[in-house]
Amino acid sequence: MKNKIVAAIMIATMTFGLIACGASKDNSQSEVNGSEQTTDASEQGDKISTVTPGKLTVATSPDFAPYEFYAIDDQGKSELAGFDIALAGYIADYLGLELEIVPVDFDGVLMEVQTKAVDLGISGLSPDPKREAIMDFSELYYVGGQSFVTTKDKKDKFKNLDDTNNSNLEIGAQTGSIQVDLAQTYSSQADIIQLSKVTDIVAEVISGKLDGAYIETPVAESYAKNYPDLCIALDVPYEGAEGSAVGVSKGNEALLKGVNEAINKALSDGTMDEFIKVANEKASGEIYEGLLEGK
Ligand code: ARG
Repeated sequence: MKNKIVAAIMIATMTFGLIACGASKDNSQSEVNGSEQTTDASEQGDKISTVTPGKLTVATSPDFAPYEFYAIDDQGKSELAGFDIALAGYIADYLGLELEIVPVDFDGVLMEVQTKAVDLGISGLSPDPKREAIMDFSELYYVGGQSFVTTKDKKDKFKNLDDTNNSNLEIGAQTGSIQVDLAQTYSSQADIIQLSKVTDIVAEVISGKLDGAYIETPVAESYAKNYPDLCIALDVPYEGAEGSAVGVSKGNEALLKGVNEAINKALSDGTMDEFIKVANEKASGEIYEGLLEGK
């Protein structure tokens, strides 16, 4: 059975748009071997090689509102939404390529990029130095933060991170994510349960099967709006590489360069802010998540 979570409650629009972007806005033209450079999008597209010529193939894990998720439209139809999806479309347009999205679980995103089955992974990816062996990273396009979530009735049990480090606890984190590292750092005594979808983690925290979980803060806030039992108990320091970057098929320099140009443009002209605003509006309504069937 597919995982289906339908949010019942609509709450006021979230505004993560104000969260600072840590990306460096370097719009300078870089020079490559003194050869003539162009930022003309269509010419860019011609020079960049991709898995399928003419297409930009992007893996994402749509269990992660407001980054990527399934939103329900007026007709009850689910559609991929989120600021990562919008950014993927923007990058494809910038490069003059047709966008193809490949929805998979998060550990699948890592694998698809590593095996070069796709061109990019856009999935709230932290540019974790440990991943540099398997993919290249763009500049940051968004900075969230890390949280420990639980239910409102248990919140008082978690006054600081030490309270999460207890062998009586079952604590969730998404398979393959940096949240597993956080769980191992702060809750090593606990039973750390890895699940492949954040939506399942949220469901198990709400049902009480899990005592708590490590989740990216904007995602925790988004689900807490839709599921009022869920709450953020603690801010979690992360020593690694905070923020989201696009994962790029390793060694594809031209693609990496084009992606960075597109990101810098979207950050500097307000497009990214608009994507974030729209994503938060959509995420505060009904949400449907999981993998699309038959696709
Ligand atoms: N930022 C974390 C990481 O890179 C989690 C990303 C999870 N993304 C998702 N779409 N579920 O490990």
